[in-house]
Amino acid sequence: MHNVAITGTGVFTPSQTISNDELVASFNAYADLWNAENAASIEAGVYAAKDHSSREFIVSSSGIESRYVLDRKGVLDPSRMFPSLPARPDDEPGYMAEIGVDAAQKALSAARRSAADVDLVICAASNMERAYPAIGVEIQQLLGAGGFAFDMNVACSSATFGIQTAADMIRAGSIRTALVVNPEICSAHLEWRDRDCHFIFGDVATATLLERDEGLERRHFKVLSTRCATQFSNNIRNNNGYLRRTHDQTEDRRDMQFMQNGRKVFKEVLPLVSQHIADHLNDTGVAASDLRRLWLHQANKTMNDYIGKKVLGRTPEPMEQPNILQDYANTSSAGSIIAFSKYSNDFLKGDRGLICSFGAGYSVGSVIVERG
Ligand code: COA
Repeated sequence: MHNVAITGTGVFTPSQTISNDELVASFNAYADLWNAENAASIEAGVYAAKDHSSREFIVSSSGIESRYVLDRKGVLDPSRMFPSLPARPDDEPGYMAEIGVDAAQKALSAARRSAADVDLVICAASNMERAYPAIGVEIQQLLGAGGFAFDMNVACSSATFGIQTAADMIRAGSIRTALVVNPEICSAHLEWRDRDCHFIFGDVATATLLERDEGLERRHFKVLSTRCATQFSNNIRNNNGYLRRTHDQTEDRRDMQFMQNGRKVFKEVLPLVSQHIADHLNDTGVAASDLRRLWLHQANKTMNDYIGKKVLGRTPEPMEQPNILQDYANTSSAGSIIAFSKYSNDFLKGDRGLICSFGAGYSVGSVIVERG
């Protein structure tokens, strides 16, 4: 068994942002348009009128203040409410590969490694822009990496599950170096016309370089332990898949985008995650008081506050459990890696921390690290 280390991370952040004010103004204009177009049916009681969204609700229920997106124009157009991301020709890089390569190159450069050192690329994300060839193989080719690549999807837990998958291969000795890439184009699977969730997601890509921990002289984080768990639930679901064309309803089916029963998710996922972390720490012999920082999944501030308090047994100081969701919103699997990437430079040799993601499945993945 070999030891494993994280030697570099990279984040691709889109250049375009949407503030809550801009988002709410466009949603409300869309709702007004829809209500006017459907006035007779609303009057007859066939449809309910669409209510306005509010910035105050978004901030108080989620902690989100802004989000990055690949195309703000399409999202903010009240007569469209969907990003304009036309399918790329087959001989051009896809969107996920393009932003994934950017993040991967940043991770390689942080680790002072080249693509030729990489034996495995995993593209781990909550939605893939096509069925095959695997996005991971496209990223491998664009980077100029050797070895092999594949895609995997465990929704919001894709990054930590990808890290465990890569770490296990490094531990076993079948590979030495792996890139886990998380291109999350959440704007394309969010229903921007649904007031209950239109504020939730943003776009980003992250990458994590893992290597055999042997003679590493550069700054790195030892992977002390990884753990994954799943428990089936329909409370976060997206039915988009290959059965779409055989369905006799219109193409505009609501269940072909992100759907959630937010309240149930809240109630059911919190105990699952808190227990998972407690068990993982206990079984690894790491006390919660040994952890300098928690880099949690970035979906909801109240959720993170609850988990931080449960794990540490007290209210965490801001830098013990840093959030990035106020600027990025929920970026699915990438969220905890953005937090880790942005808030780990101050770690000193021996400092320990925990990366944890959770979401649809349900799924929860945790990685205990120590600065080497
Ligand atoms: N603007 C204003 N009011 C809104 C609104 C909006 N955009 N969206 C919903 N509301 C209203 C609802 O109509 C409801 O009003 P009512 O009480 O008069 O019926 C009220 O706010 C509460 O709605 P609810 O959906 O129950 O809100 P909530 O407090 O549960 O917060 C979430 C919603 C989604 C932020 C929250 O449930 C959540 O974060 N859950 C977990 C999400 C998560 O982690 N998902 C994982 C995704 S990977």
